[in-house]
Amino acid sequence: MAKIILIMNQKGGVGKSNLCYNLSQNLSEHSKVAILDTDVQGSLSQLSKIVDSFQITTDENILTTDNNLDFIFIDTPPYLSSKLKGLIKIADLILVPTKAGILDLLAIDNTISVIKDELKEKNTMIILNMVKANTTITEDILNNLDSHKIKIAQTMISDLVAFTRSPLLKGVATNSNAQRQIDSLTKEVLTSLI
Ligand SMILES: Nc1ncnc2c1ncn2[C@@H]1O[C@H](COP(=O)(O)OP(=O)(O)OP(=O)(O)O)[C@@H](O)[C@H]1O
Ligand SMILES: [Mg+2]
Repeated sequence: MAKIILIMNQKGGVGKSNLCYNLSQNLSEHSKVAILDTDVQGSLSQLSKIVDSFQITTDENILTTDNNLDFIFIDTPPYLSSKLKGLIKIADLILVPTKAGILDLLAIDNTISVIKDELKEKNTMIILNMVKANTTITEDILNNLDSHKIKIAQTMISDLVAFTRSPLLKGVATNSNAQRQIDSLTKEVLTSLI
């Protein structure tokens, strides 16, 4: 059975689709991966023509058909869709990317409470994304995140052009710093799935 990794945050523009793409790209080197794009704007499914190392689909049947996949990533829209509860229930792991700004951290509460309603907080990991160079994640930010009692990924993802351009370049391999971060995050994802 494929492991199902749901990426969600009701806040827009925090890097859900980008992380979904880069983790999929990275894992597809050694595993069979697919992305289920449940965002009606279909930002990732627009890439399906240029991505060849894994499948990107909007067809939810992928979750129930026997397809020999190792991992299915599910990208979600920046709002509470009617489907989300069902997706939370079937997810083996839920990733919540967030920026480290105070408004982003306040906005994460809604997302976390939906996850807690489904008793899935133990299967959830928060990922700090688009961390700017030369900024330290301050104690109060980490304390605020800690208060949710949800695991925080040790790997922080920097704000790098390599990530913005990654869908065109089939990943971030041209930037060793970005690649190191995605490798490290991939490891944490795999460890969380054990
Ligand atoms: N680590 C990063 N460094 C630089 N740019 C990034 C990074 N992560 C994402 N981006 C860029 O930020 C923008 C928003 O990212 P993305 O579309 O992945 O967010 P999202 O959460 O999926 O947004 P939405 O909620 O609208 O679906 C995109 O242009 C993306 O390329
Ligand atoms: Mg998106």
